Amino acid sequence: MPACLRFEPMTDHIHCGIRDGVNCLRFNRPQKKNALTQEMYSALAAAIVAGEQSNAVGAHLFLGSSGTFTAGNDLADFAGLDAVPAPDAPVLAFLEALISARKPLVAAVDGLAVGIGTTLLLHCDLVYASPSASLRTPFVDLGLVPEAASSLLLPSRCGHAVAFELLCLGNALSAERALAVGLINEIVPAGQLEDKAMAAATILTRKPRQALLNSRRLLRGDTDLVRARMREEFTLFAEHLRSDEAQQAISAFMNKRPKP
Ligand code: COA
Repeated sequence: MPACLRFEPMTDHIHCGIRDGVNCLRFNRPQKKNALTQEMYSALAAAIVAGEQSNAVGAHLFLGSSGTFTAGNDLADFAGLDAVPAPDAPVLAFLEALISARKPLVAAVDGLAVGIGTTLLLHCDLVYASPSASLRTPFVDLGLVPEAASSLLLPSRCGHAVAFELLCLGNALSAERALAVGLINEIVPAGQLEDKAMAAATILTRKPRQALLNSRRLLRGDTDLVRARMREEFTLFAEHLRSDEAQQAISAFMNKRPKP
């Protein structure tokens, strides 16, 4: 970890710290491949909202751990009917915070980025990835549908063919392919990845603030459309989560069985 990035734990699994005007948010649950729990979503949402409100913060930066950005939503949370996401679910607060953010979002992706680990990148303005980065959204294989407005943002960014391949066929995208289709900005050796992302985020914090925020708002387009699609997906996702096909696929993963 670069010397400039020393964090205070916000929870055991999310570490946050403001450095040089950058709100650094680290997924820190490596023993579970940084799979995101409800508690982690709540902590992330709170940290983004706090960073948005602080004049000391000019940009946000997402970081994972060595070899893993995040394996996506914790599937144990999905493993029972009682766990169907409610309208006030922490994941919704996290997605709202992403969509409502006015300050730039930057990500450093080393290794695996599964599910929301990939779809959150669509809300980021700069994404740096190591050569081992692998982006995957196996929603359909899990009996689920896309989330985080990815069914809108991915085809508009990369076209239908790439979006369908990723969201429906479930193929993984290598770092090189992700660069070629415009999902990431640059491939950076793993040892330099966090310094590179931090340097870019720091540059953004030093730009004329209002000019940067307005330029970003113009570039990102209509957030109401993005929010509406995210909510439509969320309703459908919750319905699918109750289905036999989803419960069987999730149970197979949790019990280390091949997918049905
Ligand atoms: N939710 C809950 N636990 C997860 C997880 C997830 N999304 N991803 C990984 N883990 C856990 C594993 O259960 C395992 O726990 P254990 O050591 O207690 O058995 C640990 O993290 C290590 O994972 P493992 O599968 O052994 O590592 P791997 O390197 O062989 O494979 C992945 C890594 C990410 C390819 C694989 O874990 C995976 O497919 N995870 C599910 C990804 C997913 O479908 N995410 C949800 C998208 S909506």
